This record gives sequence, structure tokens and C-alpha cells, in this order.
Amino acid sequence: MTAIEILRNEHHVILEAMDLLEHQVHDIRRGDPFDAGFARWAVEFVSEFIDDAHHAKEEGVLFGLLAGHGLAQDCPPLADMLADHRRHRELAADMERSSARGDGLAFAGATLSLVELLRRHVLTENELVFNVAERLLTPADDAEAVRAFGRVVQERDGALVRQRHLAAIECWRRALEGSLPPGA
Ligand SMILES: [Fe+2]
Ligand SMILES: [Fe+2]
Repeated sequence: MTAIEILRNEHHVILEAMDLLEHQVHDIRRGDPFDAGFARWAVEFVSEFIDDAHHAKEEGVLFGLLAGHGLAQDCPPLADMLADHRRHRELAADMERSSARGDGLAFAGATLSLVELLRRHVLTENELVFNVAERLLTPADDAEAVRAFGRVVQERDGALVRQRHLAAIECWRRALEGSLPPGA
């Protein structure tokens, strides 16, 4: 797998999780009881999988390589991507705080803002940043990026984190499907 394929694959997982988060937000706003277990997992996922694993590969590896090909990190589109990552961290902190106080409506608000941000962000990266990267990066750049991604994974126990979150997504998906009325 190339470095960009690894990142696109992570985007796929992130979008799947965003569907679950959105579903949960609608349940909370409909008046369902606040599910503390789901909220705890959601907070962990946005921090461990999205920020520590995925954004770390983009910020610590890919964007630097692209800068070497003339794509400055203080100009669009990379500056916009970095601003989105910062906003993601603020919203993740809001989710964590509201979850800790059991404030379902505040949790739902922060979560929905994060879902909207990430869907737009992933679309821009997939259709603009990654397409440009696939044109600019040489095979040597790609090999360097894949090696550096491996170090990010190793430093943060990323393989285990990924496995745990993929299993959680599957469990929550089944639980939510089980709670849907027949034919929905
Ligand atoms: Fe990103
Ligand atoms: Fe990304």
C-alpha cells in the first residue's frame, strides 16, 4: 500500500465512525438517554485514532514532504487543513468535557460540529490534497512516508489502537442496527 492509500483507508474508517456519531446525536436530540459508554468510546476514537494516529501522519510526515515540493504549509490548501486539525482538537475537548459531566445535549452539539467538520475535511483531502500528493510525490518520497508512518504507529501502539477501534465500530454499528425498527 502507498502512503496515500494508507491515509485514504483511514479516511474510510473515520467516515464510518462519523455515521455512528451522527446517529447517536440524533438519538440524544430525540430524547433518548445519554449513552455514557458510547460517548466514552467516541471521545477516545476522535483523540486516539483521528488525532494521534491519522493527523500525526499527515502533519508529521505528508505535509512536510509536500512542502518540499513547493506546497507551503502557511498557504491553502495545507494551511486550511492544519486549521481544521486545530478545530478538531477544540471540538474533541468539548466532547470530552460535556461527556464527563453527562451533558447529553452539549455532547450532541460538539459531536455534530465535529462530524460536519470532518466530512468536509476528508472530502477536501481526498479530492484535492491527496490527488496533488499522488502527482508530486516520487517513489522515494512514498517509501520514506510509509517508513515514517510505521514509526508513528510503533510509537503510539497504533496497531492495537486501530484493531480496538475497528472492533468497536463494528460493535456499535451492530448495536445501532439492532435498535432500528424493522425495515428502517
Ligand atoms: Fe487532515
Ligand atoms: Fe486526513
